[in-house]
Amino acid sequence: MLRFLWESISFQMLLVFLVVFLLVADYMKRRKPKNYPPGPFALPFVGHLYLMDYSNPLKMVQKLVEKYGDIVSTEVGSTSFVFVSGMRMIKEVLVNQGENFIDRPDIPVDREVFSNMGLISSNGQLWKQHRRFALTTLRNFGLGKRSLEERIQEECGYLVDVFMDEQGNPFNPHLKINNAVSNIICSIVFGNRFDYHDENFQKLLQLLEETMNLHASIMSQLYNSFPSIVKYLPGSHQTIFKNWRYLKSFVKEKIDKHKEDWNPSESRDFIDSYLQEVAKGNGGSIFKEENLVACALDLLVAGTETTSTTIRWALLYMAKYPEIQARVQAEIDAVIGQARLPALEDRDKMPYTNAVIHEVQRKSNIIPFNVPRLTVKDTDLCGFHIPKGTFMLTNLTSLMFDKNEWETPDTFNPGHFLKDGQFHKSEYFLPFSIGKRACLGEVLARAELFLFFTALLQKFTFQAPPNTTLGLEFKLGITAGPLPYKICAVPR
Ligand code: HEM
Ligand SMILES: *[C@@H]1O[C@H](CO)[C@@H](O)[C@H](O)[C@H]1NC(C)=O
Ligand SMILES: *[C@@H]1O[C@H](CO)[C@@H](O)[C@H](O)[C@H]1NC(C)=O
Repeated sequence: MLRFLWESISFQMLLVFLVVFLLVADYMKRRKPKNYPPGPFALPFVGHLYLMDYSNPLKMVQKLVEKYGDIVSTEVGSTSFVFVSGMRMIKEVLVNQGENFIDRPDIPVDREVFSNMGLISSNGQLWKQHRRFALTTLRNFGLGKRSLEERIQEECGYLVDVFMDEQGNPFNPHLKINNAVSNIICSIVFGNRFDYHDENFQKLLQLLEETMNLHASIMSQLYNSFPSIVKYLPGSHQTIFKNWRYLKSFVKEKIDKHKEDWNPSESRDFIDSYLQEVAKGNGGSIFKEENLVACALDLLVAGTETTSTTIRWALLYMAKYPEIQARVQAEIDAVIGQARLPALEDRDKMPYTNAVIHEVQRKSNIIPFNVPRLTVKDTDLCGFHIPKGTFMLTNLTSLMFDKNEWETPDTFNPGHFLKDGQFHKSEYFLPFSIGKRACLGEVLARAELFLFFTALLQKFTFQAPPNTTLGLEFKLGITAGPLPYKICAVPR
């Protein structure tokens, strides 16, 4: 009798049962509450992966938005994403109900690299204390013996020199700008800048950039969807892990060096200040060396690529719009002249230049979907139910290209930031985001953009190489940067 039963429940039957069971389980897990934001039909197990174009993930979402509007949901693997557009809802997410969306999602690649330490991908108390510490420390180095402004001005001098070496011939300014910009963070974090010819420094920057770009690779995205399987496969995610190990060891060495000649009563830089915090034993076990490594790399990552990309866009726009460039130079000549370096206090007297820099940031829109947030608890967002654990992406493009706010959203037009000849800022200008988790380096970034940009235009006129046309197409890596280009920096 038993044997008969067993034989009739054939292997195929078992298989069918298993599949049905998994389907039901998946359906239960995936079942969405009432008023969940609209989205397309999700297949079992893979969600919307079938709609995904891995070479251009944004294209899929773009299509969905055209169909569903200002709020749209998608499922990738078992992760739920919600894209939010328009001022009303974005302000809810980032400000009015900001506490409910304050966390960063746990992204498998980041977890593997940093175990969610540092500033960018940490959460809870660890994030709160480190953010407060980093803000204070950045502020202190703006006041110390040598102010941050002086450090940036010094670096402007070096950057002008290496541009001068090109003698007006076409060259790709990318690496030189990266060197200069990351030296500001290096000077804050490590206490020293690096010579542009320093091989270790070049290797560090190259590795950082390569690694950041790999984070957008197909294998890295697959790892994020199915970490436990992809972990065993070869591919660019393995290169990411290897590179981060090297980057961490670079920072670790710097920390060890600091410990050797450490003077507890004097803080030379971020590392010194952090070591003081470790020594105090404040915040229990929160301030520890492992976290310092993660913070240092986070500052380098967040502070280099973003600012450097923006400056590369700025030079490109100047070469594209010579009449705008000429007006900036006229303002520089009138307010600063040729005899001294630009200073931050000049900014208020230079509304046109200030407007041009803002317009570069608006139009180049380098972080179009902000940095992802995680829903901390079930939240009602303008009538839509957002369950805890949902990934939130705020569409900054929808603000910076809003047709009702900007006169000519798709045109590069410094007039967007001028009113009766005075600088005028719009609340729709949010490249640094807004709220308690907004960019931690905004003040620094704005100082760098102003000083580097004016120092370069004080000394050079930027032009397309002879017989070439510069394009404004972008490539989406970690930020939306211009395609590699060559430009002529003609001494004035
Ligand atoms: C043009 C330059 C820059 C742009 C456009 C930019 C933009 C952003 C954006 C959009 C975010 C995410 C904010 C959010 O989630 O709401 C962010 C976060 C961050 N930025 Fe920047 N940033 C720039 C430069 C810098 C610099 C120079 C630093 C270095 C101090 C920096 C450090 C950070 C850090 C540490 C975070 C993470 C903050 C957190 O999670 O609490 N950024 N940035
Ligand atoms: C973001 O906003 C822009 C401009 O309004 C829109 O064209 C685009 O479809 C939006 N994308 C997403 C994913 O919301
Ligand atoms: C640019 O084009 C002109 C006319 O076609 C030609 O005479 C000149 O040699 C070109 N210059 C360069 C640098 O290629």
